[in-house]
Amino acid sequence: MTATGNNKPRIVIYGCGQYGGYMARFAVQKGWPIVAAFNRAGDKVGKDLGQVIGLKRDIGVIIQDCDTANYDALRDEADIGLVAQTNNLALNLPAYKRLMNAGLNVGCHGSESYFPYGCDPAVAAEIDALAKKNGVTFTGSGIWDMSRIWSGILLLGPCTEIKSLLHTTITDVHGQAANKQQALQVGVGMTVEQYDASGLKQSRLPISYKTIPEHVLAASGYTISKTSCSVEPVIFDKPVHSWLMEGTIAPGLVVGTRILADIETKEGVTAHAKIELRLFQPDEQEHMFWSVDGMPHTRVRVERDDSAHATAANLFNRVPQIIAAQPGIVLVSQMGPMRHTALA
Ligand SMILES: NC(=O)c1ccc[n+]([C@@H]2O[C@H](COP(=O)([O-])OP(=O)(O)OC[C@H]3O[C@@H](n4cnc5c(N)ncnc54)[C@H](OP(=O)(O)O)[C@@H]3O)[C@@H](O)[C@H]2O)c1
Repeated sequence: MTATGNNKPRIVIYGCGQYGGYMARFAVQKGWPIVAAFNRAGDKVGKDLGQVIGLKRDIGVIIQDCDTANYDALRDEADIGLVAQTNNLALNLPAYKRLMNAGLNVGCHGSESYFPYGCDPAVAAEIDALAKKNGVTFTGSGIWDMSRIWSGILLLGPCTEIKSLLHTTITDVHGQAANKQQALQVGVGMTVEQYDASGLKQSRLPISYKTIPEHVLAASGYTISKTSCSVEPVIFDKPVHSWLMEGTIAPGLVVGTRILADIETKEGVTAHAKIELRLFQPDEQEHMFWSVDGMPHTRVRVERDDSAHATAANLFNRVPQIIAAQPGIVLVSQMGPMRHTALA
C-alpha cells in the first residue's frame, strides 16, 4: 500500500497546532513514521514536534519554517502531507503546492477542502491540475466526513423516492475550539451590534457549510442548480458559563452562529440546512440530524462526544485510502466509508 511496504504510511504534518498535534500523536501511537513537520514562523519552529504536541519527549522531528524549508528532500521519503492550518483553500494553496510538487498526496483538514469546487472553483481547478500533474491525490476530511456527509449519503441509500432533505445540527464551540480567538470567529460573547459589525455575515463561513447538503446531493446523483446561504447570531434567553471566554455570557449576548442554506437541484429535490456552532446549555448533546422526505421517510441522528479527537481521527483514518486513490481531487464521498485504525 505504501512505499514502506509494511502498511504504515509515512506522513508529514503541515500546521502543528491543535489538530496537527492530534494527528501527530495518533501517528506516534500507531507507529506511522513522521518524516517532517512544518509550521509558519514563530515559537514552534526549531522545536522538536514531540515537545510541541505535548508528548513531553523528543521524537526526533524538528519543526521547520514552512516558507524556507526544502520540500524536495521529502520526495520518495513520505507518502502524504496532512495540512491543518486554515479552512480557506486559497490561503492553504502554498502548502498544497509545496507538498504535491514534492510528490506527496495531501489530506487537508480545512473545511473548504471537503468539496473544493463548491467553495472556490478556480482554486479547486488549480489543485486538481496540480495533483494530476504530480500523480497524487488531494482529499479533504474531518468531522463532517462520517457525521454529516456519509450519514446523509447512507440515509438516502434505501430511498425509492426523494422529495427533500433537512439537515439540522448543533456543534459545541467548547468541543472543538482551541482558544478564545476561535470562539470569537463564530461571534461568542459579542453584542448583536458587534456581531453585525464584525463582518461575519459577509465572511466565507457559510460557504463551506452549504457544501454539506450540496456534497450529499451531488454524491447521490443530483445536479445542484441553485444555492443560497446566510449566517445569523444565536442568542440565549438564559445565561451560560464559558470556560473558553473565562466568564458568563449574559442573556441577549451572542453565543454562536447559525448558518442557513437552501439548495435546489435540476431534478427538483431540495435541501435545507440549519447548522449552529455555539455554546451549549448544560442539558444539550452535540448532534447531527438528517431527515429525508421521501419513501421511506427516514431520519438519522449522529451524537458525539470527544469532537476534537473525532475530527482529527476522521482525516487520519482516511490516510490509507487517500494514498491508494487515483490522482486529482478525490472527495471522501468517492472513497466509500472510512475504516477505523483501532487494529493498526
Ligand atoms: N474539517 C473540519 O471539519 C474541521 C473541524 C474543526 C476545525 N477545522 C479547522 O482546522 C484548522 C486547524 O485547526 P486547529 O484548531 O488545529 O488550529 P490551530 O490550533 O490554530 O493550528 C493551526 C496551526 O497552523 C499554523 N498556521 C496557521 N496559519 C498558517 C499558515 N498560513 N501557514 C502555515 N502555518 C499556519 C498555526 O501556526 P501558529 O503557531 O502561528 O499558531 C498553528 O500551528 C482550522 O482552520 C479549523 O477551523 C476543520
